[in-house]
Formats: sequence, structure tokens, C-alpha cells
Amino acid sequence: MSKSYRVAILGATGAVGTELLELLESRGFPISDLKLLASAKSAGKALKFKGENILIEAVGDRSFDDVDIVLASAGGGTSKTWAGVAVEKGAVVIDNSSAFRMNPDVPLVVPEVNPQAAASHQGIIANPNCTTILMTLAVWPLHQVKPVKRIIAATYQSASGAGAKAMEEVKTQTNAILQGQPPVAEVLPYPLAFNLFPHNSPMTDLGYCEEELKMVNETRKIFGSQEIRITATCVRVPVLRAHSEAINLEFETPFNPDEARAILSNAPGVKLVEDWQKNYFPMPIEASGRDEVLVGRIRQDISHPCGLELWLCGDQIRKGAALNAVQIAELLIEKNLLKSTTK
Ligand SMILES: NC(=O)c1ccc[n+]([C@@H]2O[C@H](COP(=O)([O-])OP(=O)(O)OC[C@H]3O[C@@H](n4cnc5c(N)ncnc54)[C@H](OP(=O)(O)O)[C@@H]3O)[C@@H](O)[C@H]2O)c1
Repeated sequence: MSKSYRVAILGATGAVGTELLELLESRGFPISDLKLLASAKSAGKALKFKGENILIEAVGDRSFDDVDIVLASAGGGTSKTWAGVAVEKGAVVIDNSSAFRMNPDVPLVVPEVNPQAAASHQGIIANPNCTTILMTLAVWPLHQVKPVKRIIAATYQSASGAGAKAMEEVKTQTNAILQGQPPVAEVLPYPLAFNLFPHNSPMTDLGYCEEELKMVNETRKIFGSQEIRITATCVRVPVLRAHSEAINLEFETPFNPDEARAILSNAPGVKLVEDWQKNYFPMPIEASGRDEVLVGRIRQDISHPCGLELWLCGDQIRKGAALNAVQIAELLIEKNLLKSTTK
């Protein structure tokens, strides 16, 4: 009989947490026991798994007794508080927050790109930032054929990237505006319905917000290359779910768009979506709920002989967070990597 595992979801009630629950069920993840953890305000509520109600518990000192795998999606502060406790008790933590991503001892893994990095984990594996995961899926297969010198990214990020409450807020704002009422912004800093604004993550001294620097630093770590020059402008748009990205790539030598198309049509986790006659390309509404990142509009950059332009949309709650985390857990099982290397 194949082995099954004791799994805990920390942040089970959130946008990523509920997606994790759905994916564990739909992918038939081998679970012998499932613990749902959240804050004290959710304790006693229940979520359904395989038709059964599972009670949510407030995370606490005993939460990680007898747990093999923790899928954490409760924010950086909560991960910092509890990841060490879980590892101490023998679990491996796959963390969706930014708390450990740039820690040199913590692998930052996209299974289609750098699965080998998972082998060096010491109990914690970080899931990259959602926009970064989506971009690496499209750029890595091209980078394998011709090294990328420079990436210029512009993102169009959905409300749900800021969590379940932000998604609800946009719906409420939309209703308010349609009824002639002023939109109220409480979760996001400004009204997003019928609007957009530069990404709401904290601003840094460089003039880049943290989300933009995550794309720079995390992509370099995942690709194992500090040389790639990367810049990004991240924007929040009034889309409920799935992020979009316009990516400009500069290579050492020209990259024929047809060759790029052929490479991406066979790339893992990528689906090529292009109908030039109909001007039909990836859209967030079609990427929502899908595992693959939709890539299209691949074309020569007319401003640079070695430049290539592409456009992508991907479900950032799914492949940008929950699915990537579950794939890492599946990888750990497949490669027998569940035991922490420090124990
Ligand atoms: N949304 C995305 O597209 C996305 C993509 C990639 C990564 N992430 C990252 O994933 C994490 C979760 O994001 P989300 O969008 O799912 O957020 P969310 O919808 O706001 O959910 C947050 C979850 O964390 C729990 N939580 C909050 N404070 C807690 C505490 N002190 N102790 C225990 N549980 C606590 C919440 O429980 P209660 O319901 O009890 O408050 C809820 O289950 C964040 O680090 C985020 O940056 C999100």
C-alpha cells in the first residue's frame, strides 16, 4: 500500500488556503490526516474536504505535533512565528509567504524550473512570489536555449493577489459605484473598482515597491544567475482573479519568435494561446482556475534586434501559490525528501 501523510494547512480559510484544500482533494494527494489551522477567530468553523466537515483550529503550540507536511499561507509574520516550531517537531514547511524566500538556507522552488533545489532543504521550502512563478514558467524554457540578458516586466495584478478580503472589496466597490455610491477602500489603500494603481506593497528607497524587487531578486535566485538584469513595474488592476504580465526579453543573439513559440508550446506548465487573425490572446478570465500559465503574443521587439515580447496570464492563487506548493510537496514525496536534512 502506498504511503500517506499527515498534512496541516496554516491559513486554511484564506484565498490560498481554500485553494490548497481543493487541490489536495482534486489531485488525490496521499493524506492520512488533515489539520486546518487559522487564527482564533476562525476556530470552531469548518471547511469541507472529501465531503466531510473538518473543524478549523486556532494555531498553537501543539498544532504541529504529528504533522509531516505544513502548507503555510497565513502571511509572513505567522510563518515566522510557527515555521520553526513545526520544523522542530519534524515537519517540512512549504511556505507561501515572503518570510524565508531570500534566506540562503531556504530553497526557493518552482518544480518545472529548479526542482533540484528542493533537495537541500533544512525543513523549510519557500514558494516564490506569484508574479515571479508565472514569469519563470514562460522565460525559463527560452533561457535554456539562449541565455536571457535582460527582462523588463509590467504586471497587471488581480485583487485576489491581496487576499480573499480584497477580492470581496472590489465586488462591493463595483456594486456601490453602479448604484451611484462612493466606493469604500478598507483592505486595499485606494478604490480598485473601475480604477488601477501601482502595486500596494511597501515602497523601498530604490523607488521600487517590494513586489517589483521580489520579481528581480527571486527570479535571479530561482534561475541561479545574479547576472540577469531585471526591472519590473507592478500594477493592481480591477480583475478578480489571475495576474497578467507583459514581458520584454533581451537575449545575447536574436530569438526567432517561431522558435520561441515552438519551445513554449512544449514547455511544462505553459499553454500557448494565440490566434492572430482574431486578435485572441491570453486573458485573465480564461486563465482563472487553470493550472497552466497562458502565453501568447510572442513577437519580435521592433526596438531591439535581440528582443522578444510576450504576454502571459496565470492564476496566481493556483499556480502562483497553492498549486506550486502542492507540486513541491509531491516532489518531496517522489524524491523521498520529506525528512529534514538537519534531523
Ligand atoms: N492571494 C494570492 O494570490 C497569493 C499568491 C501568492 C502568495 N500569497 C501569500 O500567501 C499568504 C496568504 O495569502 P492569502 O491571499 O490567502 O491571504 P488571506 O486570504 O488574507 O488569508 C490569510 C489566512 O491567514 C490566516 N491568518 C491570518 N493571521 C493569522 C494568525 N495570526 N494566525 C493564524 N492564521 C492567521 C487567516 O485566518 P483567519 O481567516 O482566521 O483570519 C487566513 O486563513 C500571504 O503570505 C500571501 O502573501 C498569496
